[in-house]
Amino acid sequence: MLITNIKAAIRNPIKSISLINRKYFQLFRTSKDEYSSYVHSWIYGKLKRKHFSEIFGDKQPDTLILKSPFSGTFKMSMTINEIVSVLGLVKHFGCEKILEIGTYDGGLTLNIAANTPESAQIYTMDLPEKVNDLSIKIASLNNNKSDFLKVGRQFKNTPFSNKITQIFADSGVFDFGSLPNNFDAIIIDGCHDYNYVKSDTENSLKIIRKGGIIIWHDYGLLKDVTKYIDKLSKSYNISVITGTRVAYLQV
Ligand SMILES: C[S@@+](CC[C@H](N)C(=O)[O-])C[C@H]1O[C@@H](n2cnc3c(N)ncnc32)[C@H](O)[C@@H]1O
Repeated sequence: MLITNIKAAIRNPIKSISLINRKYFQLFRTSKDEYSSYVHSWIYGKLKRKHFSEIFGDKQPDTLILKSPFSGTFKMSMTINEIVSVLGLVKHFGCEKILEIGTYDGGLTLNIAANTPESAQIYTMDLPEKVNDLSIKIASLNNNKSDFLKVGRQFKNTPFSNKITQIFADSGVFDFGSLPNNFDAIIIDGCHDYNYVKSDTENSLKIIRKGGIIIWHDYGLLKDVTKYIDKLSKSYNISVITGTRVAYLQV
């Protein structure tokens, strides 16, 4: 195979250089696709990315429902690949009691509701309308509070809204003990500052059931999130799914 490739490269040197450049260096090439440039910026993190099938083999869910698949906001919402991966985890682990920190427009919440049984209970938390200062001091760049009118917009007035409970609170001061315990899954996607990700994770570890899963978004893209997860991975077995910024841990 190698010899055949070398022979082909000698016969077509310009094409070969161009292919090698595209694959490894990308000199003088800028993608006109803003999505591919964005994915290119997911540069942080020590953890090896693994394909869903590499992790779950033939135990992967074969059917998922996608609701409003094109309604997300570029760079704010999860990508379709990420939504599918989170839904895959929720289905694979049979999660019904789920908490999401960081609702935004509710695109992921809606999809989780559509892929879980009628008995599922989904809690989703976002900041209240008026917030003077966040409870944990953060770099101003890390303030990602969204427009309050958009929060949960995608699931409101849908047949799924009866499964969803909205919580308006700053996760840094919220009393997680006031929630039912033994969650099957908790998704951490609120404030991405290091101390918030740490606090949200530590709180989640107190209310997740044994065998439940904690999912983080933005591994690889955001330095603070990535740094915290890399540190945590010294004590826990954390996996990251290829083509996504989704990291997860089964407790
Ligand atoms: C990236 S968005 C979440 C996206 C959503 N999970 C999805 O997949 O569509 C982050 C959300 O976290 C909220 N947020 C930021 N800081 C927060 C905090 N301290 N407590 C609760 N929510 C927070 C923001 O208002 C924003 O709506």
